[in-house]
Amino acid sequence: MVPFLDLKKQYVEIKDEVNAAVIGVMESSQFVLGDEVKAFENDFAAYCRSSHCVAFNSGTSALHMALLALEVGPGDEVITVSSTFIATVAAIRYAGAKPVLIDVDKNSWTMNADLIEEAITPKTKAIIPVHLHGRVANMGVICAIAAKHGIHIIEDAAQAHGAQFKGERAGTFGDIGCFSYYPGKNLGAYGEGGSAVTDDAELAHKMRVLRDWGQEERFYHKIQGFNARMDGIQGAVLRVKLRYLDKWTELRRAHANLYDELLSNIDCVVPLVTEDRHVYHIYSVLVKERDRVQNMLGTLGIGTNIHYPIPVHLQGAHADLGYRKGDLVVTERLSTEFLSLPMYAELSEDQITETVNGLRKAING
Ligand SMILES: Cc1ncc(COP(=O)(O)O)c(C=O)c1O
Repeated sequence: MVPFLDLKKQYVEIKDEVNAAVIGVMESSQFVLGDEVKAFENDFAAYCRSSHCVAFNSGTSALHMALLALEVGPGDEVITVSSTFIATVAAIRYAGAKPVLIDVDKNSWTMNADLIEEAITPKTKAIIPVHLHGRVANMGVICAIAAKHGIHIIEDAAQAHGAQFKGERAGTFGDIGCFSYYPGKNLGAYGEGGSAVTDDAELAHKMRVLRDWGQEERFYHKIQGFNARMDGIQGAVLRVKLRYLDKWTELRRAHANLYDELLSNIDCVVPLVTEDRHVYHIYSVLVKERDRVQNMLGTLGIGTNIHYPIPVHLQGAHADLGYRKGDLVVTERLSTEFLSLPMYAELSEDQITETVNGLRKAING
């Protein structure tokens, strides 16, 4: 048996530290924001080599508040990809702006930067590249285009804690970088959580006010804000776990290497390997007859997943945007071929071998 994800194994490894941290929050009774969240913000900003980190109750809130802080709203357009989790696009719509969805690159599976300029209109206010599966999008080109056109960048780094592009950390290329701490993420809370990093003190301040009911001073609400604050317990758990992130990431990268090697003579496409630091939140391969292969792996006791079976532009929730099947060919092909294999630091070599043997059997029918 190889479970797709095993959060319990990680908890057991850090149980004493994490239990003490959680009890500490209960003793202090700083249940919302508070010292632990503040300390986590400082630690995570330092980890990203960014000046400020603002902690939220989810990655979705981070994206939403980032858009509002940059004054993106009704009448504006935001360019992003359809090959992402629904939250990227939902946040744009929460802000009242129109998502403009472009295709991804067939090799890197992230935003195809060659398609950005033709999607830019006088209404384009921001670009949200998504660092899908833990690989930083092509930020060199994306930043150059954004600078040329005077457009903001918000990075959706929800899956990319600690990933790097040309030596720089995910989340630090644009105006704001947004992270999710959903439990299964590379840095996962024990509940919901998110954050945004930025080098701009004014944007950080705006996001702090927005997450806390639009108040700088209690009960004086200058602007319409939200209840989007991080819980104290999540801050405490994340502080402990951040200390392990690089160790866990290196294990993920070693597992990915082993998968790459063992899969080299199997009829599937493995993730592109580059010099940049991919953090493998997800290790997905492309396989033909994906659904049959996935079912067979299931019967062999190997847990897999699909990230994501229906691209955002074909989801009912966003049908009003008017996209049709065939509009984003690479995205649509990936959605029929993506198969995510078990990937977490605690995975053993035997489990990886068992998964690969299962995949070989499933692909050969
Ligand atoms: C690419 C992407 N964007 C945004 C989010 C939203 O984060 P959250 O679930 O913390 O709201 C997620 C994670 O779920 C994600 O994977």
